[in-house]
Amino acid sequence: MSYNNIRLEVEDGVALVTLNRPEKLNALNAETVGELSRAFDEVADSPQVRGLILTGAGEKAFVAGADIRELAALVPAEAQRYAARGQKVFRRLEEMPKPSVAAINGYALGGGLELAMACTVRVASSQARLGQPEVKLGILPGYGGTQRLPRLVGRGRALDLLLSGEPIDAAEAHRIGLVNYVVPPADLLSFCRQWLRKVLANAPLAVALAMEAVDAGLDAGLEQGLRLEAAAFGVATATEDRREGMQAFLEKRKPAFAGK
Ligand code: COA
Repeated sequence: MSYNNIRLEVEDGVALVTLNRPEKLNALNAETVGELSRAFDEVADSPQVRGLILTGAGEKAFVAGADIRELAALVPAEAQRYAARGQKVFRRLEEMPKPSVAAINGYALGGGLELAMACTVRVASSQARLGQPEVKLGILPGYGGTQRLPRLVGRGRALDLLLSGEPIDAAEAHRIGLVNYVVPPADLLSFCRQWLRKVLANAPLAVALAMEAVDAGLDAGLEQGLRLEAAAFGVATATEDRREGMQAFLEKRKPAFAGK
């Protein structure tokens, strides 16, 4: 499939999706969001791809937000559709039963931070800056920022970032739990690949079930979440991978999971 504003490369079971409009700091215009949607479908449907990494082209930015030139031309009904469409695409990424890593190589602002928050985990280069500056433009986040940010860092810290509009550096983002790891810029992609390799060496169905239990349980509340966890636990126990995992432990060898 051909893309204008992103690159999609698959290597060793891992898809690398690179936002590729460096001259505009990889700002998300409607065309790019459409391409992300197609890329996520491609990744979800490909049995060869087991995980993905998202990053930005160039030295400066992961994604510096939604494209302000496009936003400036929207009337309210269009703006609502624009937000709903982006939300749907980001949700597709979040719900995919394949782990995703945001490799945040620079600015992750507005829609860029929202995209990173839809990933399973976030790894920031020590030079990254993250924020939700929308209120400085007279709008608020529209791609899930008001919902995912408090879920990740808590209500008070989320409101601080959302209302001040001020960006934070990678160290502060790590301190508040917005990113999982901070690494030197030169190590960013290799660290993300290594993290995914570790996860992908585990039982694939168990990994997917754990992701689903966290995602669905967070919104359903504790009681329903616990029921969901118990049901998922039952399903995992029926897999061949469970037999292999436990057998390998008892035989003091590495498991060979088949994803069955
Ligand atoms: N939408 C559209 N274009 C954007 C953009 C965005 N969100 N962010 C950056 N760009 C464009 C700039 O307009 C500029 O284009 P030009 O060369 O045609 O003028 C180019 O990318 C480079 O950006 P520039 O502002 O010159 O880089 P900088 O290093 O001086 O500043 C930022 C970097 C990230 C601080 C600054 O670009 C910025 O504040 N961007 C907007 C961030 C934002 O508010 N995002 C939320 C949007 S809802």
